[in-house]
Amino acid sequence: MAGPPGMSGGRCLSRWIISFALFMTTLLLFRPFASYILPLGISKSLPIVIRPSSFNWTSLTPHHATPPHTYLPTSRVQVPSIQHAFEPEGRSDAARRIPRQKAVLAAFQRCWQNYKAHAWLKDELEPLTGTGKNTYGGWAATLIDSLDTLWIMGLKAEFLDAVRAVAVLDWANTTGTACNMFETNIRHLGGLLAAYDLSQEQALLTKAVELGDMLYAGFDTPNRIPPFWLNFEQAKHGNLIAETHQISASVGSFSLEFTRLSQITEEPKYYSAVAHLVSVFEEHQNSTALPGMWPTFIDARNTKFEENSFTLGALADSLYEYLPKMYSLLGGQEAIYKKMYMDAMDAVGKHLLFRPMLPDNNDILFSGTATVSKGIVTLNPEGQHLSCFAGGMFILGGKLFSRQEHLDIGTKLTRGCAYAYDAFPTGIMPEIFDMLTCPSLTGCNWDEERWRRHGNKNLPKGFPRVHVPSYILRPEAIESVFILYRTTGDEALQDLAWRMFQAIQKATETPYGNAGIDDVTAISGQAKQKNSMESFWLAETLKYFYLIFSPPDLISLDEYVLNTEAHPLRRPS
Ligand SMILES: *[C@@H]1O[C@H](CO)[C@@H](O)[C@H](O)[C@H]1NC(C)=O
Ligand SMILES: *[C@@H]1O[C@H](CO)[C@@H](O)[C@H](O)[C@H]1NC(C)=O
Ligand SMILES: *[C@@H]1O[C@H](CO)[C@@H](O)[C@H](O)[C@H]1NC(C)=O
Repeated sequence: MAGPPGMSGGRCLSRWIISFALFMTTLLLFRPFASYILPLGISKSLPIVIRPSSFNWTSLTPHHATPPHTYLPTSRVQVPSIQHAFEPEGRSDAARRIPRQKAVLAAFQRCWQNYKAHAWLKDELEPLTGTGKNTYGGWAATLIDSLDTLWIMGLKAEFLDAVRAVAVLDWANTTGTACNMFETNIRHLGGLLAAYDLSQEQALLTKAVELGDMLYAGFDTPNRIPPFWLNFEQAKHGNLIAETHQISASVGSFSLEFTRLSQITEEPKYYSAVAHLVSVFEEHQNSTALPGMWPTFIDARNTKFEENSFTLGALADSLYEYLPKMYSLLGGQEAIYKKMYMDAMDAVGKHLLFRPMLPDNNDILFSGTATVSKGIVTLNPEGQHLSCFAGGMFILGGKLFSRQEHLDIGTKLTRGCAYAYDAFPTGIMPEIFDMLTCPSLTGCNWDEERWRRHGNKNLPKGFPRVHVPSYILRPEAIESVFILYRTTGDEALQDLAWRMFQAIQKATETPYGNAGIDDVTAISGQAKQKNSMESFWLAETLKYFYLIFSPPDLISLDEYVLNTEAHPLRRPS
């Protein structure tokens, strides 16, 4: 698989060759000494020094009552396998796959070397100016988010350099007075836990526990529901309280990371905290305006679920994604996650899925947004790049719960996003757009007259409006293509992924990395680039591209469950 990097951008390549040469020289000179004190290998040649954070969150006494602990389940259940039974790879398949894998590795390497050179320890690299900026508290978001990708790509020396930096991070040293609990959980805590699961480096666990304890302090509210912002001073003084209009995903997306932290540390408080949240969602699942689903915004302070907009897209997404994934992480031992997932997806199937009207009557699906008014459900047939994860979620659910219908829906949703990639001149799907719909999921004939009335001649047929034409390096489409590939073994999906990768590279590559673009509807190559490279580009998008071109046992879905930031957490065996 991935050995040392093969290709890289010019400047980075020479930097890399020099440091590699120095490293090898050192290694050859001191080999007997190094292997004597470091039996585990060369990469351990510098010690990893852990420096504790300057504030210890566990020293605080909680201000609000905590209910008795919920303990991790211990019974044993058989969970169906998820991955396709792949045959050994033939020579011609390998000859097609490996150059693609190397191209993804090279794209990652270029970004990583530029991050190291120009934005080290900053949250993000600015890919147009070669500078760095802090967007998530100044705790090196890109570095932490990239740890497991470095490991997976076989870049072990780079990985250990990054671990050394993580080992001295101080969560009390931050650029903000508050942190975004959702993002810090999925990117930082998820990233540390996955990197620990892969490498067993103690420093990663120490920092994960420190951070987990900080985020856990966010649960110290009157109803044990965390607010969106963890304001540090308020948390220390017992003044935190959840909001009355709070993003539902921001409440419902702690479960995987907190559960894994309890599994690893055997400290039940993290799992208890999220088990409580799940029971709140369960209690209200059937009494919302769209029974089975939870509204995009909830009154988290008063535990009310009365708003009327429902989607699998922005603001709600991972709330749903985490239900089957929790079932997976808990080894099938908690049936409640299956029930909540099945009930939610019944509602999605009835009210959110739609089949677009297209010239070739393609059998594909999208998931839109529903609003409910006086009991009447209205579907807004909008596609969102963020909703593209839903294909993968349905496929995972279909596998875990042996539901062919979910496998079919998941496949069609995944193909829907792939269709939208191919439809636009840049070969990339926009952030948010509308489609013309068929009256039912069984399809309909193309109606040229209807298209003329609603369409826009500058847009591909079937897409009357593009509300947000940007692409900000998001992963959700390749994520579902990857899951479909690992569950079917269909090699045509690797060709599709390669097409997507090339389109994205062409439109987003910059002298220093990759940049979001403003308009995927612009004629190929003309989209304006923005000075932003979110950490999920390295954590998720390039990881999924790399994995789809890697042997299927690298991060097998039967061994790992990936959090919503693509961080693989080890499932119990
Ligand atoms: C943090 O505080 C707790 C409780 O007072 C204590 O048990 C723990 O050892 C402290 N951790 C560190 C790293 O000092
Ligand atoms: C705080 O973090 C910044 C980077 O964000 C770093 O430059 C500085 O040295 C840190 N300060 C301490 C006291 O660790
Ligand atoms: C919610 O409604 C569904 C469908 O009517 C039903 O199957 C399920 O048991 C209900 N759940 C609860 C907790 O009442």
